[in-house]
Amino acid sequence: MTSSNFEINDDILDFVIKKANGIKGLVDRSLEIIPNQCIQPKEHRLDKSQIDNQESIPTIDLSNFYDLNVEKSIQEAAAKWGCFQIINHGIPIEVLEDLKDAAHKFFELPAEEKVMYCKDNYSAGESVLMFWSAIGEKNEKVLEWKDSIKHGCNPQNDSNLWPPQTRYQVLEYQKWVKPLAKKLLEVLLKGLNVNEIDESLEPLLMGTMNINMNYYPPCPNPSNTMGARPHCDGSCITLLFQDYTGGLYVRGTKGDNWIHVNPIKGALAVNVGDLLQIMSNDRYKSIEHCVAVDSSRARISVPLFVNASLDSVIGPFPQMLKDGEKPVYKHILHSDYWDYFYRKRPSGKASLDFIKI
Ligand code: OGA
Ligand code: NI
Repeated sequence: MTSSNFEINDDILDFVIKKANGIKGLVDRSLEIIPNQCIQPKEHRLDKSQIDNQESIPTIDLSNFYDLNVEKSIQEAAAKWGCFQIINHGIPIEVLEDLKDAAHKFFELPAEEKVMYCKDNYSAGESVLMFWSAIGEKNEKVLEWKDSIKHGCNPQNDSNLWPPQTRYQVLEYQKWVKPLAKKLLEVLLKGLNVNEIDESLEPLLMGTMNINMNYYPPCPNPSNTMGARPHCDGSCITLLFQDYTGGLYVRGTKGDNWIHVNPIKGALAVNVGDLLQIMSNDRYKSIEHCVAVDSSRARISVPLFVNASLDSVIGPFPQMLKDGEKPVYKHILHSDYWDYFYRKRPSGKASLDFIKI
């Protein structure tokens, strides 16, 4: 018996990736069973028995952003969870809804129109289709059940190289979300006694930014695959807009539990990434998270990854070590960390081991 009724003699990676059909292309062929290449090993799946409905991540109302209590809740949530949702952040709901519609338009295009965004070599400001799961040295090369496109936003946009279906919506979103990301980082840094993000800190904290759009097609066997395997983001912080489908889970405080990030109208989820955990010498925690897929609905999410520039040196801030605290991490070139992250695709918190002392 074959694992699917999808008859392609070609390599499935070629069909999905090189020809830009995406996972969406598999679904369009009325697949009843998912291909073997999409079946995740058990350790990368979401174990339903670990879903915890008792805990929930904090939701922080940013109406009075600089109220000391609000600042404190942001700092505490980043220290305890590494994750929180924000509401009343000032980004109009239409800007967010437009992003979602744009993502549907793009991913629902025929492969012939998407194939121009499949590239091995691309500049930082371009758009490129990402099949993150197929990258790197991993032997198993299991495909995650998602299609993604990256919009390189910093330091230079080349928005003419972005798809016309998403260009204006991403440009508009950027105008709102970049200052918000900076404000959040400033509050988080204040909690570490690091003052404003001046010109010398800007490349380290927000020298590279990408806005991705993720499209998770409906899946005939959602329990055997994952939209995104458990991982931490390599960013300083990630701001994520999601539609109402649900499916994003974060690691709970008990360590072996998973907590659903309930979609809230107009909210953004904020994740601490590895870089901020490193810079804060473990004061703030990067959060492990994963995405389960739905059997009937396609899901959209739009993360903004706020990252160091590749030529920055990353490591604990001097302010963290001045009272004799031992550094948990080495200082290394960000591009070395990134190479490791990209090649090895470490699971969960193993992403930090490379730079640990
Ligand atoms: C990611 C990610 C979560 C989501 O793109 O790194 O974790 O909900 N996305 O799509
Ligand atoms: Ni992530």
